[in-house]
Amino acid sequence: MLKLSEFGKKFTAGCGIVELMEDLGAALNENPDMIFMGGGNPARIPQMESIFKQQFEKILADPEQFYSTTGIYQSPQGELEFRRQVAALLKRQFGWAVSEANIAISNGSQSAFYILYNLLAGSMPDGSYRSIHLPLTPEYIGYRDLGLGENFFTATKPEIELIGDDLFKYHVDFADLKVTEQTAALCVSRPTNPTANVLTNEEVEHLDQIARDADIPLIIDGAYGLPFPNITFVDAMPHWNQNTVLVLSLSKLGLPGVRTGIVVANEEILQAYSSANTVINLACGNLGPSITGDLFRSGDIINISNQYVKPFYQQRMQQVVALFRALMVDVPYRIHSPEGAIFLWLWFEDLPITSQELYQRLKSRGVLVVPGHNFFPGITDDWPHQQQCIRVSYVQEVAVVERGIKIIAQEAAKAYREG
Ligand SMILES: Cc1ncc(COP(=O)(O)O)c(C=O)c1O
Repeated sequence: MLKLSEFGKKFTAGCGIVELMEDLGAALNENPDMIFMGGGNPARIPQMESIFKQQFEKILADPEQFYSTTGIYQSPQGELEFRRQVAALLKRQFGWAVSEANIAISNGSQSAFYILYNLLAGSMPDGSYRSIHLPLTPEYIGYRDLGLGENFFTATKPEIELIGDDLFKYHVDFADLKVTEQTAALCVSRPTNPTANVLTNEEVEHLDQIARDADIPLIIDGAYGLPFPNITFVDAMPHWNQNTVLVLSLSKLGLPGVRTGIVVANEEILQAYSSANTVINLACGNLGPSITGDLFRSGDIINISNQYVKPFYQQRMQQVVALFRALMVDVPYRIHSPEGAIFLWLWFEDLPITSQELYQRLKSRGVLVVPGHNFFPGITDDWPHQQQCIRVSYVQEVAVVERGIKIIAQEAAKAYREG
């Protein structure tokens, strides 16, 4: 029998994200007609596909560019010219004091989080132990199993504001937010996966102040947001300073397959990141930087985000919210205020069954969503709210999403009737 190390055991036994991905994959294999409203895949946006295709063709047509994309290891921090272009754009657009020394590339932002989290938290040389604090849960499921130590996350529950008849919004509960000697960093995704929340500028400023006072970094996960792909439907300012680690990604622009993340941080953090990245990855893939280099140089990465990506999701979100309102009759549900990202977060207050049971029932009816209890890393008590939510992606065709919503409405109504 294969003898696994502690490391091996950690990554094979009961990782929430692995089990969920396997379950979603198996369900899709068994029934290819499943209505897929789980997973984090971005939508196919024809204009974006065509821009990326043109860039590919340019690379293929130029032997030197082809060679530099495929034939050489770039430095572990990423190709210098690309980092210069990214830094110049951020400086030009937002006035941030960044140079290429503040930019590093990763093989997808997920792998950047693995390195950054474990650089900062876990067992410390003085024998103490530090954790990453999530100031507002629900938070991204993908963080949950990244830490090499136990109890890697602590978290603060949100304040819940009810809005109108069928919306609600989470706010950071600053009165309850405790930073201690054991806190290694604060981390938020903005827009938030899974809730579609966008932390307000004031919340970010406040978190920034708390982090600076405690001399710990504030990590902002901008996979959906600011400044690109800018899938935000409310006014929100991108945020960065020397104490902020901003982690960006090309994935939600429509390039999840090229696996490129971008870390913007102070030089001390970036050097530590680059050392670890050399050991783990040697170098990062060149394809993402090659395809998007021109777009950073011209600033078009921001223009195309605003012109094609954001309106696509905003329009889809509006259609899907309208569908929920029309179809969820006799079900006490609320949608988190849809402020960004590519899904809706539904809350069924006092739901008589668990979110896992609802997920199973929906799966047996041919609809895949993500059960909400996975999105509460760091919450250690049995807060009932964790069992009352699901995440629903709306990137499929509207007619498909509509069929899914009808089934969600039927199953939720049935669960309340039985309860
Ligand atoms: C909030 C958030 N952060 C990070 C990631 C990781 O993305 P990638 O590794 O593709 O850059 C995802 C992926 O869905 C995400 O939703």
